[in-house]
Amino acid sequence: MLFPEGVAIDGLSGEVTPSTGRYTKKLSELGGLFRDTAAFDKAVAAGDPVAYEVVDYRKEECDIAFGTTIMMPGKIGDEYFMTRGHFHERKDCGEGYYTQSGQGLLLLESRDGEVRTVEMKPGVCAFIPPEWAHRSINTGDEKLVFVWFCATDAGHDYGTIRERGMRKLVVDKGGKPTLVDNPDFA
Ligand SMILES: [Fe+2]
Repeated sequence: MLFPEGVAIDGLSGEVTPSTGRYTKKLSELGGLFRDTAAFDKAVAAGDPVAYEVVDYRKEECDIAFGTTIMMPGKIGDEYFMTRGHFHERKDCGEGYYTQSGQGLLLLESRDGEVRTVEMKPGVCAFIPPEWAHRSINTGDEKLVFVWFCATDAGHDYGTIRERGMRKLVVDKGGKPTLVDNPDFA
């Protein structure tokens, strides 16, 4: 039987207490994600920094899960550190991203090619509808920490975005995050 409990979430560090799992994504695990491969190789060789970390609170016997994503600041070429981006396997599962600290941009793309962004800043909870791929991008100089919540069995389809990319990129143009066409979009 599951019992209720209060879970402490630190909006600055992203720590979840108690948590049920976590994983860390190092830059080297994000091969193929950034266009400037020379800058990518250089950053990996120079120490392979952590790009982001995910901490979760998840009970298999329950339909909802939540946790945090902690994204480090950084850039590869003119692209900011970002998550791989995914669709949910279940076609009826949306998600919420409630930003706690830092600043970023959530890039979304529907199955039929609509593109939207939602600003990620403290106080804004982004609604991610079902069937929209989502990628978060840390456009600031500090950690970007957000709380996510979704169905426990939503499932992650990373392959679709890995294979063809997203239609748009967010790049630094003169110090400003700017949405541009992805020339490599397949
Ligand atoms: Fe998701």
